[in-house]
Amino acid sequence: MILGILKEDSADNRVAVIPETAAALLKLGVKEVHIEAGAGERAGYRDADYTAQGAQVTSESEVLSKAELIVKINPPTSSQTSQLKAGQMILGQYNPLTNRDVTTPLLASNVTAFSLDMLPRTTRAQASDVLSSMATVAGYKAVLLAANEFVGFFPMFMTAAGTIKPAKVLILGAGVAGLQAIATAKRLGAVVEAFDVRTAAKEEVLSLGAKFVDVEGAQESAAAGGYAIEQSDEFKQRQAEAVHKHGSMADVVICTAQIPGRQAPVLLRKATVEAMKPGSVVIDLAASSGGNCEVTENGKTIVHNGVKIIGNSSLPASVPRDASAMFSKNVLNFLKILSPKGEVVLNFEDDIVQGTCITHQGEVISPRLKTLMATS
Ligand code: NAI
Repeated sequence: MILGILKEDSADNRVAVIPETAAALLKLGVKEVHIEAGAGERAGYRDADYTAQGAQVTSESEVLSKAELIVKINPPTSSQTSQLKAGQMILGQYNPLTNRDVTTPLLASNVTAFSLDMLPRTTRAQASDVLSSMATVAGYKAVLLAANEFVGFFPMFMTAAGTIKPAKVLILGAGVAGLQAIATAKRLGAVVEAFDVRTAAKEEVLSLGAKFVDVEGAQESAAAGGYAIEQSDEFKQRQAEAVHKHGSMADVVICTAQIPGRQAPVLLRKATVEAMKPGSVVIDLAASSGGNCEVTENGKTIVHNGVKIIGNSSLPASVPRDASAMFSKNVLNFLKILSPKGEVVLNFEDDIVQGTCITHQGEVISPRLKTLMATS
């Protein structure tokens, strides 16, 4: 097949496939790799690097007309969708569980679309898991951003001018992003506490040297495939009290808690923000799904009662070179399953192919997306 790579939208500095992966895809049996000119530039990959690895640098319209499978991290623009032909395939991270409008134009144009955030959470799928890759980047960068915006130091300093206490950092949600945030904040010398509703998270938090904030009575479900589920009102009340106690003493709060396909749980109340010291910082990675902080505004930095609240779910785009390399490796691993010899084999018996395929011949294929669309 001919595989095409499109340039990302202006707000995203990443590229879906890096030069090294283009070479690996050709080795896998992909006939030709076509890339839109300048697609890798903002991530530190030049057109010449792609050419050197055997890819062909071309225009957006050529990619759209020639490629059988097009890779772009963000959903195609309406102009790009209008140029797609029935049966053409696209691959990216479209977040259809929260971004409900994304499937409608894809269904209408009979495009076969794969969304890598829909992968089942199985061992076999792990090497293609873009959510974990991007969460790693976001968790790391959130702490650096917080350290930059915070009015104090992160580490303890003992100097002739006195002793400076280390910053207190509270991490809400200890999944992939939260654990990376804990590790990064620890490396910078902060005192770190973390909270999660999954019992498995406690051991991971402790192993990174952070303190776990215990709230009894959290509900879990094996059927949720490693994800958290909605909690009872009673638990939410106890949780709010614990987060208020620890949050009001924190200098920095990093919010990472999410529930797939639903609004993010509100964990950090306005009253807690108002009890924090001026100059403190909240980074809300869950901003695009409503935010964990009650006062978060998606895509904005606001100051509430002297506390800076940064609502940013796009941090992976701010580490574009390595975020692209990770995404690209995930794409390669996925294509080893979808097109083991370089030609796509649509085997919907395979849970990875079925789970990620959001639209095909005008129908929704992913069972998770189907269920969500039927119940909402
Ligand atoms: P996520 O991005 O959906 O959520 C982030 C964290 O927020 C999770 O740890 C979740 O438990 C927590 N959370 C949700 N609601 C909360 C609430 N009300 N209060 C406090 N915390 C709350 O999850 P993520 O980070 O993508 O993955 C979670 C877990 O899934 C991982 O730690 C891992 O165990 C598992 N996983 C398995 C994979 C596989 O087997 N292929 C791949 C990636 C993750």
